[in-house]
Amino acid sequence: MSSRAELPEWQNLVQHAAAVKDRSISGLFQQDAQRFSNCSRRVADKLYDFSKNNLCETTFERLLDLAKAVDFPAWRQQLWDGVPLNSTENRAVLHVALRDSSGRAYWVDGKNIALDVQRSLKQMRRFCAQVRSGQWLGYSGKTITDVVSIGIGGSNLGPQMACEALASYADDRLKVHFVSNVDGVQIRRVLADLDPERTLFVVASKTFTTRETLLNARTAKAWLLQQAGANDAVAKHFVAVTSAVAKAQAMGIAPENCFEMWDWVGGRFSLWSAIGLPVALYLGFDQFEQMLAGAYEVDRHFFETPERDNVPLLMALIGVWNNTFLNMPTQAILPYDQALKYLPAYLQQAEMESNGKTVNRAGESISYTTGAILWGQLGIDGQHAFYQLLHQGAHNVAADFIGSVTPVLETDEHHTNLLANLFAQTQALMDGVDEQAVLADLAARGLSEAEQRALAPHKVHRGNQPTSTLLMTKITPQSLGGLIALYEHKIFVQGVIWDVCSYDQWGVELGKLLANKLEPQLEGEEPPATQDGSTSGLIRYVRAQQLA
Ligand code: F6P
Repeated sequence: MSSRAELPEWQNLVQHAAAVKDRSISGLFQQDAQRFSNCSRRVADKLYDFSKNNLCETTFERLLDLAKAVDFPAWRQQLWDGVPLNSTENRAVLHVALRDSSGRAYWVDGKNIALDVQRSLKQMRRFCAQVRSGQWLGYSGKTITDVVSIGIGGSNLGPQMACEALASYADDRLKVHFVSNVDGVQIRRVLADLDPERTLFVVASKTFTTRETLLNARTAKAWLLQQAGANDAVAKHFVAVTSAVAKAQAMGIAPENCFEMWDWVGGRFSLWSAIGLPVALYLGFDQFEQMLAGAYEVDRHFFETPERDNVPLLMALIGVWNNTFLNMPTQAILPYDQALKYLPAYLQQAEMESNGKTVNRAGESISYTTGAILWGQLGIDGQHAFYQLLHQGAHNVAADFIGSVTPVLETDEHHTNLLANLFAQTQALMDGVDEQAVLADLAARGLSEAEQRALAPHKVHRGNQPTSTLLMTKITPQSLGGLIALYEHKIFVQGVIWDVCSYDQWGVELGKLLANKLEPQLEGEEPPATQDGSTSGLIRYVRAQQLA
């Protein structure tokens, strides 16, 4: 397989980038009075504005040429057809099947998995209705008031992000709590405020082998049984979401309390499956379905819209342009909506676990930069923390600003101020402030020439940092579903462009293996002589301190 970098379309972009990398983004607006409408697109309730990127008509066309050269339409078709795109694990990648309400069949190994999806959704609907209506009773006959979701990574980040994002749509029937950290402090704090008679645990683990999750589940079970005494209380208080039902049952979880997961959905794309059960319990199943509907709407856009208007494709191409061709290794996600507090963490896993790879699909080393270092937090808080570096630091950083036209709750002038900040930041990051403007301002403030010269360098903002803005009408279950689906497809396209296998995560496995080996050493086993001195030294230090 020849390298992407050898494609003429790739080389065209390399040359183009060298020629335009330092041009002024604001200058591009002077050349094109219609730049905003030329460089923005609509999808569902969203507007995607990419005009504040270092990108002109030529860049746009060359990026589309690259998408064509790597056969994007064929790859997209394979995703649609359920071809095992997770080639290192020989698995299909069918999270789209989880939200397809059209009745279409999806075939995996001769089986129509759409039927499994429907069965699982039905089970979720029934269970949510029972718990939320008070029909489901705990071991002592009391109704459930609190749900504790135990899981990590893809089995935690999605439900936690969605519950936070959609909290305004929840009623007061159930509270939801999340435990992911193996640090026992987290689970102890959560349990401290709960009543075992009224608490339901959702143990979410696709493999049911993840040490953090199993340890937390065991602690939760011991806490329950300490109060309940009888082991059969587990059947009233524990459900599992897993593809390893036998392992869940071995932990004492009743077979009828197991919700199915499948090999053809990756952990970080599994929010749409029963992994989303905490969301459905918290909001009610109808709202969970709305989230699926929003994602499906974007799926249709992705599969049906021509390239130049296809938002996830454009998001991906612009990301590749900034990351690989303009050498910007990082991508900030900056939501201006309190509801999206956990979106950066969610997308961090989705993108970095997917495209943080350095070999291509054929296993050959890649010579270009792949997956961006994705990071971020609520933009307004970031403004008072790390934005200084964005404005005046040494690094070029690409950023996605995400906001809503209307707030979820009536907030008077708060929302106006929030949006003003969002737009002000993208403007400042693009325009900056040059020395001449700084000097004029200082002179107008009455500073002497010497004072002006001394202060001016500190007040210059170089600008020209690329940003994209995604505006939703308002956070709703549907719009959130669509937002996540946009990024999921963006990740897929970037994997195609970079030619990486986006759906495995071998890099995560190594740490798990080593942690399992080191745990006995922390419990007293002598570190082997072959182990590195630092690790052995740290372990001996901890042991000595603990025994002192
Ligand atoms: O973080 C690594 C990972 O393998 C993720 O891909 C997955 O979402 C997470 O661990 C949890 O795995 P499981 O659902 O099997 O417990």
